Amino acid sequence: MNFHDSEKMAGLLALKGLTEAREEKDADLIIFNTCSIREKAEQKFMSELGRLKFLKRKRPHLKIIVSGCTAQQMGEELFKRAPFVDFLIGPQNLSAIENLFLEEGRGVSFLGDNPALAETELPALRKEKPKAWVSIMFGCDNFCSYCIVPYTRGREVSRPSRNIINEITGLAREGFREVTLLGQNVNSYRSDTDFPGLLERIHLIEGIERIRFVTSHPRDLSDDLMRVMSQNKKICEHIHLPLQSGSDGILQAMNRGYTYSLYKEKVDKIRKAMPRIAITTDIIAGFPGETDEDHRATLRALEELRYDGIFAFRYSPRPGTPASKMKEQVFQEIKQARLTEVLALQDGITSQKNKALEGTIEEVLVEGMSAQSIKELTGAVKELTGRTRTNKAVNFEGSLSLIGETLKVRITEGKRHSLKGEIYKEQAF
Ligand code: 5AD
Ligand code: SF4
Repeated sequence: MNFHDSEKMAGLLALKGLTEAREEKDADLIIFNTCSIREKAEQKFMSELGRLKFLKRKRPHLKIIVSGCTAQQMGEELFKRAPFVDFLIGPQNLSAIENLFLEEGRGVSFLGDNPALAETELPALRKEKPKAWVSIMFGCDNFCSYCIVPYTRGREVSRPSRNIINEITGLAREGFREVTLLGQNVNSYRSDTDFPGLLERIHLIEGIERIRFVTSHPRDLSDDLMRVMSQNKKICEHIHLPLQSGSDGILQAMNRGYTYSLYKEKVDKIRKAMPRIAITTDIIAGFPGETDEDHRATLRALEELRYDGIFAFRYSPRPGTPASKMKEQVFQEIKQARLTEVLALQDGITSQKNKALEGTIEEVLVEGMSAQSIKELTGAVKELTGRTRTNKAVNFEGSLSLIGETLKVRITEGKRHSLKGEIYKEQAF
């Protein structure tokens, strides 16, 4: 979401005639688009920002803007801690960037609630063809007790469906083949249609071959959505369904609105409807009050549900959230040890799942050169990279002209974090 917000600001600035500077030291404008979901992201930003103090001294006309959730959360305090920052822009006010770079004044902030957010159209500058991110809603009303998003991104609002359809139709015309719909909780999308209805309409757009979406809240994952996913070929067989914890007590303290057994029921149902579906999740290790028993419940859940992949984090207290005020905070070392255990267990499961794909034929949308190929630009044979419908990265040899194409690829090796393959001889689908 943060990445796509950057694409939107870049799009607005491009319309004003600005181009990307080749190096930081040549820039007239530097924007930090920040994330405050965990403390680590914030610390990284603060140390990067500190570095710029000297650049600003050398280039007094340089403008420094801090946008995103850390700007929203720290507010004017940021001007005090870093007086060389010129402007602050919260995630609901990205459109302010349009005029700010011309402003003479300093110390201006745009951090208010923006009632026009859902209707504001921002022309994103996308560089990741054939894939595009598309916002369908903003904000979040869930108030999970650990999470800062409802405070920084504000109340949940949905974009009008016709604006979304228009944007995606335009993307298809420009040659984009895959869209990923973005929202904190896509299942609660509401305009003149609901989320399954929106998917059905997007499915009709010619030129779009793949539809993905993030993130689904397990509580709101409906039978209707499962039906639409299984009946519409363009919707990829992947769902990101954050579990957070396998313990009912912790799920309740997190205010997640489901129990483990309810979550598992949904997973069983969706696997029955789409047997090949890949399921991924988010896990938080060491939430306040988490006991060894709670932690073991999470490990058991990972063993039972056998995810295709997970993102796991140490619990990080965020300012103003209820969980940050809970008394039984878990020691850093214990959080770390539990996180390590979670990741190690999942690594084994992911490896087994990837290994099981060896010999299968997967439909792959070719995205570009693999990281390895980019490093060795002189090589004659190129290694390409793409993703399966289940969102697994596959590297294979092929010509650059294949970028943007959908190919059949035979999986030759299932590794821990990616797959290796070769272009299958019989390409007919
Ligand atoms: N500490 C650790 N992880 C968090 N997440 C959100 N807030 C926190 C926090 N305070 C994780 C959740 C969420 C993902 C995007 O980030 O797992 O699903
Ligand atoms: Fe945060 Fe919960 Fe909203 Fe996700 S659903 S953004 S975790 S409050």
